[in-house]
Amino acid sequence: MSNKRCPMTTSAGAPVANDNQSRTAGARGPVTFDNHYLFEKLAHFNRERIPERVVHARGSAAYGTFTLTKSLSDYTVADFLQEPGQQTDIFLRFSTVGGGQDSSDYARDPRGFALKFYTDRGNWDIVGNNTPVFFLRDGIKFPDFIHSQKKNPRTNLPDPQAIYEFWANNPQSLHQSTILMSDRGIPLSYRHVNGYSSHTLSLWNEKGERFWVKWHFKTNQGIKTLTNEEAATRPAFGAQQDLVESIDKGEFPSWTVNVQIMTEEEAKNYRINPFDVTKVWPHSDYPLIEVGQLELNRNVDNFFAENEQAAFAPSNVVPGVGVSPDRMLQARLLAYQDAHRYRIGANYNQIPVNAPRCPVHNYQRDGAFAGITPSIAGSGANFYPNNRGDNGAPAEVPDVQEPPMALEHDAWLDIYDNRDDDNFSQAGDLFCMMSEDQKNQLVNNIADGLSQCTLDVQQAMFEQYDSAHEYYGKRVRQEVLNRLG
Ligand code: NDP
Ligand code: HEM
Repeated sequence: MSNKRCPMTTSAGAPVANDNQSRTAGARGPVTFDNHYLFEKLAHFNRERIPERVVHARGSAAYGTFTLTKSLSDYTVADFLQEPGQQTDIFLRFSTVGGGQDSSDYARDPRGFALKFYTDRGNWDIVGNNTPVFFLRDGIKFPDFIHSQKKNPRTNLPDPQAIYEFWANNPQSLHQSTILMSDRGIPLSYRHVNGYSSHTLSLWNEKGERFWVKWHFKTNQGIKTLTNEEAATRPAFGAQQDLVESIDKGEFPSWTVNVQIMTEEEAKNYRINPFDVTKVWPHSDYPLIEVGQLELNRNVDNFFAENEQAAFAPSNVVPGVGVSPDRMLQARLLAYQDAHRYRIGANYNQIPVNAPRCPVHNYQRDGAFAGITPSIAGSGANFYPNNRGDNGAPAEVPDVQEPPMALEHDAWLDIYDNRDDDNFSQAGDLFCMMSEDQKNQLVNNIADGLSQCTLDVQQAMFEQYDSAHEYYGKRVRQEVLNRLG
């Protein structure tokens, strides 16, 4: 054995004499109860898994930098958005949505684009997708939607009837399902996707003005996609391999970062509800403004510690950045931290990949694995307010209070049904933009699933495609009928 090796130890640090044999009562006899090292090994092994994410379970992540190229100081006090040239460390995790941890990288599925900015005033997360819109505009339907898109609870097989039955009953999904069934539905690799905040977020400046903002990350590698047939020939881990190998080779993938910005005043009268995540802001109304570059340049060292334990949350905002009244986003402000506490534990933000790169001081105490961040387990005061200012006890920072947000005039607390808020125009706009080849791919991909559904579901979907565009409806109807012979 090389004498450069370090000594093997138990998890408590004691040197291990033998890692190959258990202690036994005689050469052919049973294992004895004093094999605590064997028991430690097996017990730890039994605990190697944590629950996989309920959605976006399969993913790949890397570290990198965000470089600001245009100051956003007119819009925000956020300290990392002030001077062109400023750099902020980031962590970006790509994912598929519906499959489990061992599913394929090449599913026809949105790709998650979850981005953590380690700013000097805390972590800011944009937990977006590679699509500018989403299937729903109210979080109350999210569990139903996900149930319908995952495998059948009895057969554990893909279930086109459930997928389309949900969409037939929720026409608000049409815009996003048109993107999903288009050529963009299966990206060639994670390097070849755009990322979007999808939701409208906000920025606020020192005058107390708020601006509504959508973030767009446009791939510098170009959009590249696969057909169903091409995807079927790829190994399940292809996108993970592509990301790791390109970064290891020094071919760092990058994205051009753009924003669309709307004032609060404009939002009041905009013809489209700016907080409806099933819709985009057309570029002709709100052109993209280029503000930076994002680059991935370092792979994770340990997939489990960094990728599996990564915890992104739309509620992670920093001074100068805020959310919006988008109903879906509001639901997500609760859902993610709850998921992390269940999946990882109460102190998930102390794990290195999630830990802020700035000091953390608060009065939260204890819980499993408390103390990974020493200042939080500190010996100082564990209550607030207190009289310990001279000892450096943390105090509130009132100047980071977000400006107040006006509510609609005379608003009533009630149930407001927004299910019919123009579900079709933008799906139609997208269809019209497509080349004939893209339209062919779209209708073929739709017909693959829809032709396996019941007549009532087919009929309801035909009517939705008709409402988006007459030719869209006609083409899908023809293709489904062709399949049915
Ligand atoms: P524009 O012509 O100004 O923009 C069209 C956008 O569509 C481009 O950003 C292009 O971006 C993107 N695109 C092209 N093909 C597809 C596809 N198959 N799936 C998804 N995106 C695609 O038009 P508008 O701004 O008026 O929007 C028209 C339609 O374009 C919308 O209804 C929406 O479906 C789609 N779109 C709009 C976006 C927006 O923020 N306004 C963003 C993305 C899509 P690129 O090739 O760089 O991805
Ligand atoms: C992951 C819930 C909508 C993007 C998750 C997770 C949950 C969740 C519970 C797993 C979190 C974890 O265990 O770490 C919801 C709910 C939604 C919603 C309740 C609607 C109300 C959306 C939307 C987007 C999105 C609209 C994109 C625009 C993502 C991404 C991840 C994720 C990218 C993976 C994050 C990672 O890489 O760790 N979601 N989601 N979700 N969600 Fe959502």
